[in-house]
Amino acid sequence: MEFQTLIVESRNRVGYVRINRPDKLNALNARAKSELEQAFEDFKKNPSVDVVILTGSGEKAFVAGTDIAELTVLNTESGKTFAEGGQGVFNVIENLGKPVIAAVNGYALGGGCELALACHIRIASENARFGQPEVNLGIIPGYGGTQRLARLVGKGRAMEMILTGDQVDAQEALRLGLVNKVVPLPELMKTAESLAQKIVTKGQVAVRLALKAVNMTQETNLTDGQALEASLFGVCCGSEDFKEGTKAFLEKRKPEFKNK
Ligand code: COA
Repeated sequence: MEFQTLIVESRNRVGYVRINRPDKLNALNARAKSELEQAFEDFKKNPSVDVVILTGSGEKAFVAGTDIAELTVLNTESGKTFAEGGQGVFNVIENLGKPVIAAVNGYALGGGCELALACHIRIASENARFGQPEVNLGIIPGYGGTQRLARLVGKGRAMEMILTGDQVDAQEALRLGLVNKVVPLPELMKTAESLAQKIVTKGQVAVRLALKAVNMTQETNLTDGQALEASLFGVCCGSEDFKEGTKAFLEKRKPEFKNK
């Protein structure tokens, strides 16, 4: 697929997806959503990419929401299908099997906030603003926001954001636990890249199984979650990375992981 709404690149084992509709503040139209799905499916299969960074073009917006112009035709039935479609795309990101870092470079509103929530780690620039303003349009978040926001920041805080539609700035997002770190905009990509590079140096068998285990906290209870943890721990113990990692520690040297 030739991308019209995204800039997709990869270097040094990191994949980059940049949503590129700056004149519309990177609002997600149907094309952008299907390209996002394709770009992430491609990175999932690409053996030379271990971590993906997702960001938006320009200095103003990460993603200012789903494209409101495409909402107006929806009715009860097509609205449900529309939400399910967006949820499906964002689920591809959350379940990529490789870490995805959102580098939030400005407005992350509506579907933009939900997109950041589907990523595994969020770094924000100081000018970033987060919000779920759907109530202003007579709708609710439909791309997983009611579920992921409440799980990430707690039910009461999610309720306030979703019921008022109010935006929170980057510092408030940090305080809420909505983002991991806030940096000046010129340092945003550098910060996301150094985080990605740190993860790239680890054994990728462990990274991917850790991702799976922590993702499962959203789906399961403590007992079943621990059962999964134990079996994934066992899988790690059968890997070459485990032999190399423990041997390297005892030999007082850096491990050379083969990601097997
Ligand atoms: N869908 C479609 N177009 C959007 C959009 C969206 N979610 N968000 C911004 N745009 C478009 C604007 O219509 C405008 O297009 P135009 O130049 O062709 O008129 C362009 O992007 C620039 O936006 P503008 O509103 O002029 O910028 P601003 O700096 O005055 O305001 C926002 C920025 C983010 C506060 C404002 O654009 C906004 O409220 N956007 C909608 C946010 C939203 O409700 N998202 C949830 C959707 S479910």
